[in-house]
Amino acid sequence: MGCEGYGAIARVYDKLNAEIDYETWAEFVERCFDRFLPTRPELVLDLACGTGSMTLPLARRGYDMIGVDGSAEMLAEAYARAEEIPGILWLLQDMRSFELYGTVGAITCCLDSLNYLLTLPDLQRCFACVHNYLDPNGLFLFDMNTPYKFQNVYGNNAYILEDELVWDEGGPTEERAAVFCGWQNHFDPATRICDFDLSLFEELENGSYRRSDEHQQERCYSMEEIRAALEAAHLELLGVWSDWQFSPVTETTERWYFCARAIKP
Ligand SMILES: C[S@@+](CC[C@H](N)C(=O)[O-])C[C@H]1O[C@@H](n2cnc3c(N)ncnc32)[C@H](O)[C@@H]1O
Repeated sequence: MGCEGYGAIARVYDKLNAEIDYETWAEFVERCFDRFLPTRPELVLDLACGTGSMTLPLARRGYDMIGVDGSAEMLAEAYARAEEIPGILWLLQDMRSFELYGTVGAITCCLDSLNYLLTLPDLQRCFACVHNYLDPNGLFLFDMNTPYKFQNVYGNNAYILEDELVWDEGGPTEERAAVFCGWQNHFDPATRICDFDLSLFEELENGSYRRSDEHQQERCYSMEEIRAALEAAHLELLGVWSDWQFSPVTETTERWYFCARAIKP
């Protein structure tokens, strides 16, 4: 299977997201474990794991990790990054219908991956699978882009993302290719779908640039919809915050961080 929008970008994904501090994010995950579980889990699933940006820090902290993603290209990057951390189980599966061998103590789903589910029934299917594969009281930690962000930050804006090389007198100090990404958004408030048109330019060894284009879509969900979908899946919402310091959400919060637990008979 393939995951639309995560083909060519997989090669440069980590360079474009290099500023995201996953180590601090992993600390937040562990603080949630300590706050809401009697003991830290042994086995953790990173859902929509992408290139393993959260899977790897958690594996280094000693958790047995499973990474599930719908893009073979993203998983190939994850597999290559995990060379010195053997034992991670990488599964190419859709997060709306994934299957594991048994239950896990916690599930993470990071960097607005759930916004890639474009309908409420798809979100509900995913939450039902999450509930199915969590231990009783197991934790589900995920984040979503907020309506404020779709309306006021993404809107109909265009951005250029660059992986800048550091130069000194002798030339670039690191041996890696430069990457530029042109990123054009269109948010439709009627459908609540945001279209992202990405054009990637990767520098090749001969100095020329390879262009590849990707189209991605995210769906904007309201807090009420997310709460109701969690409840319908028997996932009890324990908290929602605006950052990794457990700060309350405000009108201008751009990312909601949720923690829920599986209620099982
Ligand atoms: C923004 S990336 C986040 C990746 C990773 N969690 C991170 O923090 O870097 C979104 C990921 O969701 C995956 N994805 C999107 N729709 C999916 C689906 N239906 N099933 C499984 N994975 C999906 C994409 O392949 C991509 O790797």
